[in-house]
Amino acid sequence: MKKGQLLYEGKAKKLYATDEEQVIWAEYLDQATALNGARKDEIKGKGELNNQITSEIFLYLSDKGIENHFIEKLSKTEQLIKKVEVIPLEVVVRNLAAGSFSKRLGITEGTVLPEPILEFYYKEDALDDPFINEAHIAFLKIAAPEEIRLIKEAAEKVNQELIRLFQQIGLELVDFKIEFGRQADGTILLADEISPDTCRLWEKESGASMDKDNYRKQLGDLVPVYREVLQRLTKISV
Ligand code: TMP
Repeated sequence: MKKGQLLYEGKAKKLYATDEEQVIWAEYLDQATALNGARKDEIKGKGELNNQITSEIFLYLSDKGIENHFIEKLSKTEQLIKKVEVIPLEVVVRNLAAGSFSKRLGITEGTVLPEPILEFYYKEDALDDPFINEAHIAFLKIAAPEEIRLIKEAAEKVNQELIRLFQQIGLELVDFKIEFGRQADGTILLADEISPDTCRLWEKESGASMDKDNYRKQLGDLVPVYREVLQRLTKISV
């Protein structure tokens, strides 16, 4: 497989074409952002940790029957993925109150939600990724009602499997964000990344944040925390 021209440069990765039309070459960068990109820092080693963690998680989800865009890990910082047209939605699933949910609704962080709560955000930097509902999604023609039904079903399955996965390594899955895309034939596929950048993970014993909140809240260095998550994941996947 040959790496082709740069197609996209995002906050945390670069995407390149390949000599196969439906395959993309993704490179994870040593970059962290917060506040929708207003704060940005280079963090050495983050790219390779997220590439490896995301690869482990997508392989695990494939094994559990959840189709996704991951093809194979190429190197410490690179992976091959299936080409999709990204649907501009951030799909957030919450098991415990935290972050913007706690702030918006005045609910103490750590409150256990009786049922997982699914939320949609419109991925549009110029609008600061606003919180939207299904009527907004239909009005903006972001996705068809049937696509939304499939996305919600997949998000619930991902939540159940990730809760189980992280439980096995002593971590509580507080919430996470996933994204979906359309393949050339129109079918919906789980895409983007799943890593401590996109999940809130609390260590069960200590309650410590094992995720990007260390950067968002300036609690400490991300790299040792992400390394610990990767080490725990690779131990159980052997
Ligand atoms: P929030 O509490 O800030 O809304 O975040 C909910 C979850 O979604 C949390 O695990 C972090 C993740 N997330 C992203 O991955 N990207 C984003 O742009 C935002 C706002 C949240």
